Amino acid sequence: MPQETNPQSGSLQRASVPNPLALIAEVTHRCPLHCVYCSNPLELAGTKAELSTGEWTSVFQQSGKLGMLHAHFTGGEPLARTDLTELIAAASAAGLYTNLITSGIGLNESRLQTLVSAGLDHIQISFQDSREEAANWIAGAKAHAHKIELSRAIRRHKVDRNEIDEKKTGGKNLAFTVNLVVHRQNLDHLEDMIAFIEQLSPERIEIAHTQYYGWALANRAALLPTRAQLEKAVAIVAAAEKRLAGRIRIDSVVPDYYAKYPKACMGGWGRRLMLINPSGKVLPCHAAEVLPGLSFENVREKTLAWIWQESPSFRRFRGEDWMPEPCRSCDRRTEDFGGCRCQAFLLTTDATATDPACSLAPSHGIVESAVREANASAASTRPIAASSFVQLQKQTAGLWSYRTNPE
Ligand code: SF4
Ligand code: FES
Repeated sequence: MPQETNPQSGSLQRASVPNPLALIAEVTHRCPLHCVYCSNPLELAGTKAELSTGEWTSVFQQSGKLGMLHAHFTGGEPLARTDLTELIAAASAAGLYTNLITSGIGLNESRLQTLVSAGLDHIQISFQDSREEAANWIAGAKAHAHKIELSRAIRRHKVDRNEIDEKKTGGKNLAFTVNLVVHRQNLDHLEDMIAFIEQLSPERIEIAHTQYYGWALANRAALLPTRAQLEKAVAIVAAAEKRLAGRIRIDSVVPDYYAKYPKACMGGWGRRLMLINPSGKVLPCHAAEVLPGLSFENVREKTLAWIWQESPSFRRFRGEDWMPEPCRSCDRRTEDFGGCRCQAFLLTTDATATDPACSLAPSHGIVESAVREANASAASTRPIAASSFVQLQKQTAGLWSYRTNPE
């Protein structure tokens, strides 16, 4: 157990930091897929270092006590943990709304039932494309057909529970989101993709433009869309929102590189979220380990309350004191908090710089030049199929690198 430290022992300012709202639990970095847009770090947490069932249980209990509301199970592929049922049960017992973010590989109808009985509230499955060949090419794995099968099982499961088997399940509803990560290689199929997903009847479709961290940043040239692709996509989403209104909600935002202002990454540094990586490091965001000069506490040594309130890493970019101009005197600083610290570092090597995605940033030229390059060549490439993953890696080496797995 970590050492207990009184969270109120800091200054008034520290003690008055509002509680975090949600926990992002990266329960493993192992994954059967190799998506080229993966935002996991290039250096993945090793299997042997993963937190145990008991350690995660303590994390969920502390999260509940800290007033958090949600636990997002992610990875890697959370289903690769054989104790996922116990982990969901522990989070649910701590009063957290549980969301499983998954590729679906490793799930079947009976495991799904077990997870729901343990307290799973929401499931999010991501698709790489509507066309099987392209989807498998982007994921570096033959996963598409299974995802479709599983999505149908989720729908059947809902019908069974809602209409037939209410007693057994307590009538609890499993919410279902389908996530589409879009980029240069699949945006031209967006209309097809939305129509395809509509058949799976989720409550919500999330259209997430690739964010350029980790593997996605390494593969940016192959993933950054052209302006023409983006403009077409915006019109397609607007039409789909109108058509599906009242039936399926669509959430989509313009990608960073084409926006006028940056995103409020993680809702602001140390303001809303805590991310715990597979080996127990507590991070303000998924990419924070790229930042130099910061060390991150581990749940094996410190309590979540202390880390949230007192740790130098969570306090580093909280508030406005660290901000340079133009952020310091900009009206939008309380909305986007100066953008993303990791993106600022990755693109400028200065973690305190204004996010270069901002049109007001002195370093905005870096983003403009990436966009110019993206618009200077033909948009998408034809999918490649291969007899094995190694073969696929070889055949696509000139285009991108697939995410690999930790030792
Ligand atoms: Fe946001 Fe800073 Fe740009 Fe203003 S100058 S919009 S605060 S990133
Ligand atoms: Fe780290 Fe945005 S990913 S602050």
